[in-house]
Amino acid sequence: MDQSLRRPKLLKDYAPPDYLIDEVELDFALDPNATRVSSKLKLRPNPKATNNRPPLILDGENLALESVTLDGKQLAAADYRLDDKSLTVPTVPDRPFVLETVTVCDPEANTALSGLYRSRATYCTQCEPEGFRRITYFLDRPDVLAVYTVRIEAPRQEAAVLLANGNPVAAGDLPGTGRHFAVWHDPHPKPSYLFALVGGNLACVPDSFATASGRDVKLNIYVEPGKEDRCGWAMESLKRAMRWDEQRFGREYDLDVFNIVAVSDFNMGAMENKGLNIFNDKLVLARPDTASDGDYGAIEGVIAHEYFHNWTGNRVTCRDWFQLCLKEGLTVFRDQEFTSDLRSGPVKRILDVRMLRTHQFPEDAGPLAHPVRPASYIEINNFYTATVYEKGAELCRMLQTLLGRDGFRKGLDLYFEWNDGSAATVEDFVGAMADASGRDLSQFMLWYNQSGTPELACSLDYDARAKTARLSVNQVLSPTPGQTKKEPMLIPLKLGLLGGNGDDLPLQLEGGTTLADGLVEVTDREQVFIFKDIPTAPTPSLLRDFSAPVRLTMTLDPDQIEFLMMHDKDPFNRWQAAQSYATNLLTAASRGGFDAGPVTGTEATRLAQALATTASEISLAAAYRAEFLKLPNESDIARELASNVDPDAVRTAYERLRATVGRKISGTLGEIYEDAAATGPFSPDAESAGKRALRSAALDLLVGSGEAEEIERALRHYREATNMTDAIAALSILSHLDRPARDEALADFYARWQDEPLVLDKWFAVQARATRPDSVETVHGLLSHPKFSLKNPNRLRALIGSFVHANPTGFNRADGAGYELLASSALQIDRFNPHMAARLLGAFESWRTLEPKRQALAKGALRQLASGELSTDSYEIVTKTLGAD
Ligand code: BES
Ligand code: ZN
Repeated sequence: MDQSLRRPKLLKDYAPPDYLIDEVELDFALDPNATRVSSKLKLRPNPKATNNRPPLILDGENLALESVTLDGKQLAAADYRLDDKSLTVPTVPDRPFVLETVTVCDPEANTALSGLYRSRATYCTQCEPEGFRRITYFLDRPDVLAVYTVRIEAPRQEAAVLLANGNPVAAGDLPGTGRHFAVWHDPHPKPSYLFALVGGNLACVPDSFATASGRDVKLNIYVEPGKEDRCGWAMESLKRAMRWDEQRFGREYDLDVFNIVAVSDFNMGAMENKGLNIFNDKLVLARPDTASDGDYGAIEGVIAHEYFHNWTGNRVTCRDWFQLCLKEGLTVFRDQEFTSDLRSGPVKRILDVRMLRTHQFPEDAGPLAHPVRPASYIEINNFYTATVYEKGAELCRMLQTLLGRDGFRKGLDLYFEWNDGSAATVEDFVGAMADASGRDLSQFMLWYNQSGTPELACSLDYDARAKTARLSVNQVLSPTPGQTKKEPMLIPLKLGLLGGNGDDLPLQLEGGTTLADGLVEVTDREQVFIFKDIPTAPTPSLLRDFSAPVRLTMTLDPDQIEFLMMHDKDPFNRWQAAQSYATNLLTAASRGGFDAGPVTGTEATRLAQALATTASEISLAAAYRAEFLKLPNESDIARELASNVDPDAVRTAYERLRATVGRKISGTLGEIYEDAAATGPFSPDAESAGKRALRSAALDLLVGSGEAEEIERALRHYREATNMTDAIAALSILSHLDRPARDEALADFYARWQDEPLVLDKWFAVQARATRPDSVETVHGLLSHPKFSLKNPNRLRALIGSFVHANPTGFNRADGAGYELLASSALQIDRFNPHMAARLLGAFESWRTLEPKRQALAKGALRQLASGELSTDSYEIVTKTLGAD
């Protein structure tokens, strides 16, 4: 292994490129094993470069070079240098020049799915972050923006559809050869990571969109022939996203066509290539019988996300990969707002916060913690993390909270105005926000540069004589890898004080300010806010709407939490109160082995009754009531415990509380189950989906009671399901049981769906997630199932990904068998798809929070991995996860 690959790259080492590329002409002759790429680059020395007459160093990997030509003259071997990462031309003119190369690559052999590869018979590309260098020699960095013209040629029989970025400009046959060609031109300068090409025999589902200014845009979704009837939802989602971006942010689409291609082998969810988005087909294809409400929601969100990148990412791109949150965090924030506007705002907030806490909080508390804008990385592919995405989105949300919706919109408009067509930094973004609002946001920059989840330790004292309530807030910023000392942050804290009848009291700060929106700004390590004219001791509702990505700690007694659970006007905090109440019981039961008292006693009964009350409140959205009925899960409990975690004790606590709740309120749950039954035909809209979610949540608790008739009910739910949502909900509830009902449902599901890959993925996943003592053996068995393949990322994620990321008792089994399973499969996968292997290995990130025996076993597995031959991707994850000792 070349150790230079493992040397970290540093943000502070950024230097502008020595050369710029203004125009690119590419000519592809597609062939399964030898695709020839002829490239013509119009280069010039960068006036902003710091070096004097530097060599031209182009990135390139896995390429067979056939020729290099400079200003029309072919170079001799002595005129350039070649190694396995680059092509160097030591002397080039000190003025604009043209460099042409001809290279050959092998799409069939490309198992990493980065660069040009084949998904089944379709040629496709994935260039972000550094895949373009696997297609041709180039300055493969995001601050080199060029205008591309692309010609593609292929046998018509093998690839009737030929697509690239931008607008189509020419197409035709090459008479007598069976071959044809297409030429595409993208007028918008773009970095190489946004390049895309597709060739294959695909079916097209067309539509169109009239922009606000009246331009007509052709929309096309390309899929495997026969799947055309599954594109309707994706197309409707795209049009909704296009309209929303015009209305909410004033952003219009800027090309004549917008193409989406669905492929079945894709490392990620989807990719925002300019004018030619490429999608994992599971995020495009949906039909009521094959896709669940979760799938429909994900499709809508991801279609919107990739579309929104057209402005946040493409028109304004990133200067370097350290600035990744500039496009990803902002675009996640935009897609969250889109879903929030189209569906239930509070439910969306609950789902997003749950996601943040499940994935980002453990990252920020573990060995892989890094700032939203990292200062260093070894392999950039490892930094598409929950911190960059989810916490990055929270930072945008905090800016919107601090500046107001209009202020944020103004700032964003300014950001586009100043940076359109160029590569920007986080400073450019926050700078625009500061300028538009007239605020100094320098303290806010700490959010981008300091890692770790801040803790807000709060307490409230009421002075009955002075009629004042005194809120003290302490920021606790614990050390994280590489960051021992931290500065206090600017934290927007939304709050309310509830009076005796549950209404919000007017908030008047001593000194005069009235808080109309309940927002205070925490800026110091220790700070006190005194509210006046408070008639009686209030109940505090802090961090409403989860106004900052922090961990709030505050001691409230069970009566106060119950009061918030019944009365809080902030729907997020009302839900949070129920979660906190349950979490307190669950952690008490989990500590030191297992103590049944807290999850079976009177407090558990009170919780059950409070849940029943809210879940029956028909004025609330069904989806919200469903969220209320979901108990904190194993990862919520483990996170709260923070150390010495015994996943079996956690699971036992969870199951006992679930049983208590299921038994105590079985009558109400039964009514909810019946009342929420569907009437009309299937519709994926938010309200219908909410009813199905409510019904499944009730069913889950009922089955949790362990009563035979409830298991019967679940089996009936499965058998009578007329859509995938109900079928998979029942199957998943049954999957944990050791009963014939489970085997019946699993066998039926397989028989019905074995030839539908995306549905069969669900069959693999549901078994991998099942909490059973033999889950490791089950996964082992499925690894050699005839329908299993490590080479398809969706299948791999369905089986191994679900097991290591979503089955805590199975993965952390006391004998270490789960760790061994991950280590051995990751080693195997690492040889052909390092990116996928490294992602799976992320499952070890919380190993230090486990009880000592499991810690030792996990450490053993990690050490073993570290001593083997690893890709750069996996090496970085394994060594950082192990840490210094
Ligand atoms: N730009 C990314 C896709 C990507 C990620 C490419 C990592 C290369 C490496 C895309 O916009 C994205 O973020 N996709 C997400 C889904 C999104 C809704 C968060 C994905 O693929 O998971
Ligand atoms: Zn993205």
